[in-house]
Amino acid sequence: MKTHVDMEKVLFSKEEISEKVAEVAKQISADYEGKNPLLICVLKGASVFFVDLIREISIDVEMEFMSVSSYGNSTQSSGRVKIEKDVGIDLTGRNVIIVEDIVDTGNTLFNLRKLLSARGASDVKICCLLDKPSRRTADIKPDYVCFEIPDEFVIGYGLDYAEKYRNLDCVGVIKSSAVMGSSSK
Ligand code: PRP
Repeated sequence: MKTHVDMEKVLFSKEEISEKVAEVAKQISADYEGKNPLLICVLKGASVFFVDLIREISIDVEMEFMSVSSYGNSTQSSGRVKIEKDVGIDLTGRNVIIVEDIVDTGNTLFNLRKLLSARGASDVKICCLLDKPSRRTADIKPDYVCFEIPDEFVIGYGLDYAEKYRNLDCVGVIKSSAVMGSSSK
């Protein structure tokens, strides 16, 4: 396992992750049979999860990539989403699945889902690796969740702290000594 000296404890090993990702992929394959869903990877954190997930899906799917940042915060549920990189296709009538690494306050997904629905997608569902429901302020409930986690600062398997640790193959809690200032993602 590719862990790191800055990791306090491992929450999910490489094996546990790949088992769960396969389970979720199987569920998506069953739910979207014949629908050619469009999976949208929200960069950067979801990229590692995304490439593993799509390879476990047995039906035809298409993929797109987006990069967004949310203006919303816990006291401002009507926040907007700023698109840094957009999808390259028309979403009219598409069955969209947004793929995220983590749902924290839910603001990013709340805004993104609203935006994609407004573009004419017939259905916008959410698939995430990690769900942190204790931090939720927006009205968001992901449709496919690999793991629910407590309110701890997690890194690895795509998740960073100051752009580091995305390449670890497990998910774990960062040591407080490795964190400068305060944030809880
Ligand atoms: C993370 C994550 C979600 C968002 C979730 O992205 O990938 O997009 O935060 O937080 P929320 O539920 O409170 O809105 P981040 O801004 O860390 O970017 P990254 O994926 O490039 O690391």
